[in-house]
Amino acid sequence: MIISFYLNGVLTEHDVTPHRRAVDYLRDDCGCRSLHHECADGTCGACLILMDDRPALSCILPAFELRFREVWTMEGLSDRDEFTDIVSGFKEARVRLCSSCAPARALAVEALLRQTVRPSARQIRETVESVQCACCSRRRLHDAVIRSARNRERRIHG
Ligand code: FES
Ligand code: FES
Repeated sequence: MIISFYLNGVLTEHDVTPHRRAVDYLRDDCGCRSLHHECADGTCGACLILMDDRPALSCILPAFELRFREVWTMEGLSDRDEFTDIVSGFKEARVRLCSSCAPARALAVEALLRQTVRPSARQIRETVESVQCACCSRRRLHDAVIRSARNRERRIHG
């Protein structure tokens, strides 16, 4: 099946088989090596991508579901100004992420900030919990999301 979609702002087209997972396709055929696939069953969040401004777990998503969508991974997000809001937010909260969760975590926060720059406590909690981490304190991660949102709001509204 031929799919065409926007990947990190670039129109992309490939022939994919029906059972190919989005995570494998994006990593192997599209070069999105920032994507991790730890659990492969939708539990850990390490394979999270941004699809039409919403978070999506690419290990449980068939590649053909990407067609006609707008997809972002860290390869694209890290080149954009918005990314600095998140990097600064995590720095301000003194959260240092490891390489296996950082891309998914940043994309999860970006998905939230595209919905709102004034997230509720529930939205922040869901965003924090969408990517598993056993080494950072939840309180700090929560704080990092709040700070990222403040940075985004300041950048948009001055
Ligand atoms: S690899 Fe764990 S949720 Fe996708
Ligand atoms: S900082 Fe990456 S899993 Fe905890």
